Amino acid sequence: MVRSVPLACVAVVVRFFFVALAGRDKVIMEPSVRRYHQASKHAPDRYAPGPGRLDWASQPDPFRYYQGTLREGLPLQPAVPDPPFAALWQPEAVAAQPMTVDALSCLLANSLGLAVWKAYGNNRWALRCHPSSGNLHPIEAYLIAADPFVGVHHYFARDHLLERRWQPERGEAWRRLWAPGHLLLALTLVHERETWKYGLRSYRYCQLNLGHAAAAIAFAAAALGWRCSLLWQAGDETIRRLSGLPHAADVEAEHPGLLLLLSNQAESRLPDTAALAAQMAVAPFLGKASRLTPETLPVWPGIEAVEKACHKAEEEVVLTAAKSDWPPLTFGNTTLSAAALLRGRRSGQSYDPGHVLPQAAFFRILDRLLPRLSLPPWALLPHTPLVHPLLLVHRVEGVVPGRYLLLRDPAQLATWQGLLPATASWQKIFSAPDHLPLYLLQEESCAEWAGVISCQQEIAADGFFSLGMLADFALGLQPGAWGYRALHWEAGILGQILYLAAEEEGVRGTGIGCFFDDLFHRWLGLQGDRLQTIYHFTIGMPIADQRILSLSPYAHLTERR
Ligand SMILES: Cc1cc2nc3c(=O)[nH]c(=O)nc-3n(C[C@H](O)[C@H](O)[C@H](O)COP(=O)(O)O)c2cc1C
Repeated sequence: MVRSVPLACVAVVVRFFFVALAGRDKVIMEPSVRRYHQASKHAPDRYAPGPGRLDWASQPDPFRYYQGTLREGLPLQPAVPDPPFAALWQPEAVAAQPMTVDALSCLLANSLGLAVWKAYGNNRWALRCHPSSGNLHPIEAYLIAADPFVGVHHYFARDHLLERRWQPERGEAWRRLWAPGHLLLALTLVHERETWKYGLRSYRYCQLNLGHAAAAIAFAAAALGWRCSLLWQAGDETIRRLSGLPHAADVEAEHPGLLLLLSNQAESRLPDTAALAAQMAVAPFLGKASRLTPETLPVWPGIEAVEKACHKAEEEVVLTAAKSDWPPLTFGNTTLSAAALLRGRRSGQSYDPGHVLPQAAFFRILDRLLPRLSLPPWALLPHTPLVHPLLLVHRVEGVVPGRYLLLRDPAQLATWQGLLPATASWQKIFSAPDHLPLYLLQEESCAEWAGVISCQQEIAADGFFSLGMLADFALGLQPGAWGYRALHWEAGILGQILYLAAEEEGVRGTGIGCFFDDLFHRWLGLQGDRLQTIYHFTIGMPIADQRILSLSPYAHLTERR
């Protein structure tokens, strides 16, 4: 019953579609997507509509659990090898581990698990291996598998355990649907966790968060020698059915996000998701989802409208494979293990403008954004890059300050030369590796300006460089309105790579969701709405806040386990 679909070559479950890269200047945007995107833009004199004030009493709980489920604790010190982080970025360098309880524990701990508890005065808050806008964590995760856990389980991140939500009545029939060494992870979203603070713009943040989490899982999988692919054909209804999303009227709804396939085999095999869902219809889902806030939070009709417009049906998605024949990556001096780096990733809160980034480190960081399909996290994004970083370089050794473009697909050069103003100089950087498609567009000192466009956040000015991720809406929305979500997933994935690449160089990154969209577009001299900035980022030398204490992530569990 297993559909034999080799995923080793990623462009297989997806047929080719984005063929015409040039001559697609017209953006065909579903009206409610266009309305949402416009209305959720920030401007210096008009921020996107938000809640007005923060009501701490109604802040949603970042941890959902299911009452009345059987709980299976995951080992806190799983017995699995911990390879050097650098091995993850070398093909075939990590031996594939068996899919044991220990390996699964390691996968979840290093991606969606807690990294540390922070304490300041009477306040305590948990940080996780993957970042999240406002540390609000809108994502829930469901494991669907035959081995090592049978059925459907919800991951309760706070206590690092699985809650059994569904079990097959006939285990044999369920097992026949799976090839050995495969499992599915469904990611879903609780919008309220973000709307509570960010209002209308939250839908974008939720989608960016999905990209970060998917990439975090892909890297944690790579540390086990596993491959993590995004099932582009999966529709929202499939994700809803496979994860048994709560639909009780008295708890906050979860919305379908992404479906990931993890495999420790050389050739991945896609389980028949319709057959899985058909078996699930026979036995009920167990447990009652916890309510996250005592209050009823305001409904955001703009978010409901864009979500409806971006509904993704089960369909074959057709993508053009990305150019992948880039030279091997190069490495600095990192000796950190995968677990140490993945758990140690943090967002810089402030940066010291007195530091300069060595040139080689700058080029290594950017090189990691080029899609090498045999390395993580690119099985998530096998298609032609649709999101490209526009860099504002402030302090990089031997690199003149100014605005630069990293065009992640050199085949799009002519198109982009037509889209950016004629004044751009398009100079290749001679000291950069030959293959790096990095272009100087204009020399200028733009540190102060970088802070201004990032909603006046100094982190963007004080780092070595900051960037805005320009998404090609004409190409990205071709497969349908849901492409709007996918562009944000791509940006989130790039953001996660930047976070990890910064840690590798001993510096730090910060995702920036708050920026003045059209001010940035005007500064670049963009005409029309084909190129839109959808996520910003900065990398710098962090200044630690000595007042904040760090506590062990699972200290609260050690007495219990
Ligand atoms: C989509 C997204 C948007 C973010 N926007 C900002 C921002 O505008 N300013 C900022 O200082 N941090 C921003 N962050 C960083 C978060 O505040 C940070 O991830 C969170 O506080 C958790 O901390 P950690 O990353 O150290 O785990 C953003 C993160 C994400 C994923």
